[in-house]
Amino acid sequence: MLSEKLKDYANSGVYPFHMPGHKRTAESGLPYDIDITEIDGFDNLHEPQGCLAQLQENAAELFCSRYAFALVNGSTVGILAAVRAMAKEGGRVLIARNCHMAVYHAVELCRLDAEYLLPETVDGLGIFASVSPEAIEQRLKANPEISLVVITSPTYEGVVSDVKRISEICHRYGAKLFVDEAHGAHFPFSDRFPQSAIQCGADAAVVSLHKTLPAMTQTALLLANSNDLAGELKRQLSVFETSSPSYVLLASIDRCLDFLRHSRDTFDAYTKRLTKLYEAAGSLRHLTVSYDRLAACENVFDVDIGKLCIFCNGSMSGKALMEILRSDYQIELEMALGDYALAMTSVCDTDEGFDRLLNALKEIDNRCDDADHSSNNIPYSLPQRRFTIGEAVNADGEMIDISNAEGKTSRDYVRVYPPGIPMIVPGEVIDRDVLSQLRALEASGNEILTDSSAFPLISIIG
Ligand SMILES: Cc1ncc(COP(=O)(O)O)c(C=O)c1O
Repeated sequence: MLSEKLKDYANSGVYPFHMPGHKRTAESGLPYDIDITEIDGFDNLHEPQGCLAQLQENAAELFCSRYAFALVNGSTVGILAAVRAMAKEGGRVLIARNCHMAVYHAVELCRLDAEYLLPETVDGLGIFASVSPEAIEQRLKANPEISLVVITSPTYEGVVSDVKRISEICHRYGAKLFVDEAHGAHFPFSDRFPQSAIQCGADAAVVSLHKTLPAMTQTALLLANSNDLAGELKRQLSVFETSSPSYVLLASIDRCLDFLRHSRDTFDAYTKRLTKLYEAAGSLRHLTVSYDRLAACENVFDVDIGKLCIFCNGSMSGKALMEILRSDYQIELEMALGDYALAMTSVCDTDEGFDRLLNALKEIDNRCDDADHSSNNIPYSLPQRRFTIGEAVNADGEMIDISNAEGKTSRDYVRVYPPGIPMIVPGEVIDRDVLSQLRALEASGNEILTDSSAFPLISIIG
């Protein structure tokens, strides 16, 4: 085990005349003793031939992929590297509009000409549904120059797309498929989860180990199925990833892989725990904790049962529920939006933790009245585009209050947090509809972010 090897080295008495500067001496409870740089015997993440090559081979085997790259800058670095590796500078790409900001940043850096596909939302819930394979096919048919398609599956809320069909369609039209599977690292480890993107034929996918598996923050894997692509991914990772990768994080990845190798019973217990919770939550009268509700929607292909979407059904807002759980029950959820709140679970949760959430929800449910407190969902739309993101951010800008920006072209990203998906990207027209939507969202307490300054200031093309 890498962590044992690092401990042995820490205890060996060798004096470190090398980075990092703390020299493994601090007594703080933090793992300084195993925080080293690329010392002889510990391999090199950018040219792995020893213990890190072995770690990546183990990861590839466990994640059913031909190649795996260990990432210490999160899925973010994997997305930047993958998009640059899979599209030629200036090339045409198709991006599902509900992608993470890292995808937009990759489009910006590679000066790509991005078209967007706005997935439908689930009726009345304001949650993005699956990406439609038919919609992808239509766009690829109309635009044969599209060489790369990027989708997010699962979404934050656990909605999964039909990656198998989408990858078949992409390949039929000569495009590659990259799947942001940051929230689906646990998929290969139980039949109760959807099949992983790489098993469904995606050319490459990124998974954040730290989001749903026992691994430290920033740990992730970039997975690929072809030799040529793996070579280009390696080259791009050396552009975007730190040249001083943290061995603490690499050891955490190694530990996580070791855990996964022996995890069948633990995952069985986890999925049983989830089933029990869903069943028990069936008695709630106002709140609903149900993946069935999402899975039953026509435009939803599949759902990850590990994401607990708690729908308030008008009894309160998702934010209010999150606040009550925090203040009255010391339970911190992942996020809340519109009419729902989201609890992220993992294989490391306990029976006690699940019972605590369930009991809290039962008590809150009992206190709910029948008044309708429905709250607004985010009304996503696709504004008209005047420039590519790269053209827009490189144009001269001017900072103005967004209330004076109707008809102007944005140089900024404008996103509502959570979930952080942009409502406007650089190069798009700030129209009357989006302005009134932003005003309504701000009035109902949502945080609106721009990149250049503090909202309501926004950078426009001057
Ligand atoms: C869908 C999605 N993709 C990518 C990322 C980035 O992942 P990381 O935090 O591992 O860099 C996130 C982070 O929240 C995400 O939600």
